[in-house]
Amino acid sequence: MTDLRLPHRLTAPEPGWTVQADVVVVGSGIAGLTTALEARKAGRVLVVTKTFLDESSTAWAQGGIAAALHPEDSPEQHLHDTLVAGVGLCDETAVRALVTEGPKRVRELGALGANFERTPEGEIALTREGGHLRDRIAHAGGDATGREISRALIEALHAVKEDPGIEVVEHALVIDVLTDTTDHACGVNLHVIGEGQRDGVGAALGRAVVLATGGLGQVYASTTNPPVATGDGVAAALRAGVDVADLEFVQFHPTVLWLGRSAHGQQPLISEALRGEGAVLRDVEGRRFMVGRHPLAELAPRDVVAQGVISAMTETGAEHVWLDARHLPADFLEQRFPTIVARCRKHHFDPATMLIPVAPAQHYASGGVRTDLRGRSSVPGLYACGEVSCTGVHGANRLASNSLLEGLVFGHRIAADLAEQLPPQSEPVARAGSAGALDPAARVFIQGALTAGAGVVRSANSLSTAASSLAQLAAERRSDVLTTESWETANLHAVGALLVRHASLREETRGGHWRDDFPDRDDRRWRGHLISSLTGDGTVRTRFEELP
Ligand code: SIN
Repeated sequence: MTDLRLPHRLTAPEPGWTVQADVVVVGSGIAGLTTALEARKAGRVLVVTKTFLDESSTAWAQGGIAAALHPEDSPEQHLHDTLVAGVGLCDETAVRALVTEGPKRVRELGALGANFERTPEGEIALTREGGHLRDRIAHAGGDATGREISRALIEALHAVKEDPGIEVVEHALVIDVLTDTTDHACGVNLHVIGEGQRDGVGAALGRAVVLATGGLGQVYASTTNPPVATGDGVAAALRAGVDVADLEFVQFHPTVLWLGRSAHGQQPLISEALRGEGAVLRDVEGRRFMVGRHPLAELAPRDVVAQGVISAMTETGAEHVWLDARHLPADFLEQRFPTIVARCRKHHFDPATMLIPVAPAQHYASGGVRTDLRGRSSVPGLYACGEVSCTGVHGANRLASNSLLEGLVFGHRIAADLAEQLPPQSEPVARAGSAGALDPAARVFIQGALTAGAGVVRSANSLSTAASSLAQLAAERRSDVLTTESWETANLHAVGALLVRHASLREETRGGHWRDDFPDRDDRRWRGHLISSLTGDGTVRTRFEELP
């Protein structure tokens, strides 16, 4: 295996301004906002976010948030379903924390102001999604659960905004994690656009740093993730020498509205909850191909449905399959799925009367910055929460609607840890280099390389072609122009190259990872995690940690 180097590193830009807090939280989805609100109990909090406070993957989440809230459900059953979806690689202790603390946290979120749909008796209404053997998904605004959760958390944050102990900086891209002489995290470098006196490169110093930057979906040509999801947190953590795990386990959502071959960037998600309410999948010849493939048919775990969709597309030679909701009443569809109905109609499909063309697209990174049960990374003082993290709850494939829950539960856990111990503020030491930058025009080629080489189906050949293209781009597309776009492009390159490396090494098919040349799960060789970190000589080292 050839050495993996990150894009060339630049002389670290001198910060033009400095802001100070006890805890610096980077990101404003459910993970960042929950951590920020709770960490206020530990000290002064600064939230920095790349665009606006309300722009995050959370805000785009449709289906909902999973928790064993029904009297006939239990955390034990939620644990079971999560472990099955994670195909042998979940950390059972982390999942246990998720599912046992989940119900209380979801109720608290309701009490904070998140308007979950309710039953006539006033209980949180629950629906079902793939891989869940019980109705367990709380939802809001029909299919606008994430938007409602984001609204409620931001409102709670504004309620304490009079409090000088919480500050927000928007339009701030995290460049690097700052560390002191003992390699303890003590802040971040930021690139801020047009925030008054805080403009250009600055430093946000803190006694602890929490990365809650979300996913990396923009590394693919087609994704459900918003444009801000460029893997900044994983890339910054990697440059700081932090352990990054399981990056090969990318989840592809099986039902994303198919808008033609040339569609690029964020694509409209058609929530699994629609299948939870009875919609079915058909190939282009009208056959229900999931029946017989799995006992749960269309509600099998997401990787199984994505594989079924790809097989149906291959067998029929079509570029999509159909989602059929025509048997559901039109008024029910409009009231239960207003976002989806509006998006479909915008593209001239009426779900009440027409078949909807869908195909898989990138949706979620199950791996990320490796953390323990308190959200601590391998670098002291640096925490990670939400999609950027790898807490062990998802294993090889995340169970539907466990992602919002993870941000919520682990946000509380991180805040509890911060309340117990916050070290004194230390001084960052100058590092030899900072994030490199790549010509933003390289972005589309990075996306092309990942999509062709490390998509739903991969092989040694496709991955090696992707690795060569990425190496060539790193050499040919260096840039010394420091803009948000050039840093983002370098971040996409770094996480893309690491993802391809992990995917090449893992010679088996498991969960979200499907190798054409190794079609079976191989517990003898691959029951464990691939973990990478940057070494002192600037190369990335990858090790395999076998599970006991
Ligand atoms: C969906 O609504 O289908 C997505 C939910 C999730 O990703 O957990």
